[in-house]
Amino acid sequence: TNEIPHDKSLDNSLTLLQEGYLFISNRMERYKSDIFEARLLGQKAICISGEEAAQLFYDNERFQRFGAAPKRVQKTLFGENAIQSMDDEPHIHRKKLFMSLMTPSYQNQLTDRLTDELNASISKWENADKVILLGESKDILTKVACDWAGVPLSDTELTQRADDFITMVYTFGTVGPDHWKGRRARNRAEQWIKGVIEDVRAGRLMVEEESALYAMAYHKQLDGKPLDAHMAAVELINVLRPIVAIATFITYAALALHEHPEYKEKLQNDNSKFTEMFVQEVRRYYPFGPFVGARVRKDFHWKNCEFKTGRLVLLDIYGINHDERIWKNPNQFQPERFKDWNSNPFTFIPQGGGDPAKGHRCPGEGITVEVMKTILDFLVNSIEYDIPNQDLNYSLSEMPTIPKSGFIMSNVRRKNNL
Ligand code: HEM
Repeated sequence: TNEIPHDKSLDNSLTLLQEGYLFISNRMERYKSDIFEARLLGQKAICISGEEAAQLFYDNERFQRFGAAPKRVQKTLFGENAIQSMDDEPHIHRKKLFMSLMTPSYQNQLTDRLTDELNASISKWENADKVILLGESKDILTKVACDWAGVPLSDTELTQRADDFITMVYTFGTVGPDHWKGRRARNRAEQWIKGVIEDVRAGRLMVEEESALYAMAYHKQLDGKPLDAHMAAVELINVLRPIVAIATFITYAALALHEHPEYKEKLQNDNSKFTEMFVQEVRRYYPFGPFVGARVRKDFHWKNCEFKTGRLVLLDIYGINHDERIWKNPNQFQPERFKDWNSNPFTFIPQGGGDPAKGHRCPGEGITVEVMKTILDFLVNSIEYDIPNQDLNYSLSEMPTIPKSGFIMSNVRRKNNL
């Protein structure tokens, strides 16, 4: 058996927070390896990177998710004991529920609502001194996602609900006061949505059958029983929260357009093919999900290294999306690279790898891409805007990270098409 390169530090949790998205790739470079072992979060962990590592990681015989996500992440980002920590038949069954809500028909219902809401925002934006795209997208996506899902939401509670969704996403890697802020946001959202599920079940709230709320309220588990109201709420939040989180990629898409104005004309005159390539490159190039974790199910060897039962293993999402063996000039933004892309499920993994129906890969990629395309099209074809001086830097050592200013637009005006 080969010795896995060991990182010498006693515990790397602090360096992980300091080096952020580059923590794993910095060490891969140092050890000239696709694998190393470190102490993280008070335990041994094996970090792996590269296409073969992604293939290995999505082999369900070798890895399980139960017990992988730290409680502090479950109490902010995921929700406790939700789909992310399930395995085997129960996981596949739960996953079908999520996949059934992501069909083209559901996607179109979401993007139609989004287009209406964006168009309705133009006059408000025209009258504002400045518009912060991150904040506006978060509110608009919350409104649209709740409406699409069948969840009632009044204008007065919109901002609080939107802030809670985004806080859950932005506090998963934190400790101390920020962590507690994340937990409060989750508790508030769970209580709210649990009440909505109970209203549906008690007949106090009528909801269309073709909606995420109906699907969660009446889903039957393998034993034929419905989810308890709290779990149904947690899983419905697992649909709503990530839709709101697309605001992050939207902000990066606007930044990409600003940094690469040469693409603007192409996007304006596009039949959606190039817009999609642009959106894919945004998902590859900019940092969002840093890595994903699982536990070894049963001892095995890989590349002559020993993986012991129960060991935590982290797959390097950001590193694989910037792996120069896979991507030519990985640190350049080049949408053209997606022109003849081969759809390999293990090399482009901003939302996980493998087959979403069989493993834990994100079921929401179709929705994410369509939402991003809709907003990008709106930004280039429906409005014009100025970009005032601001701090657009984002730090690779914060997880998750975002351009500091949130992308400020000023002097927004409606474009007179036709
Ligand atoms: C899982 C990223 C949007 C629902 C995941 C995973 C990642 C991810 C990295 C974990 C993959 C794994 O464990 O192997 C993202 C990013 C998004 C996004 C960066 C952009 C905003 C969405 C959307 C939805 C969604 C729009 C739903 C509408 C889920 C669910 C899971 C998941 C339910 C758990 C799947 C499972 O455990 O089987 N996502 N996602 N995500 N995502 Fe997304």
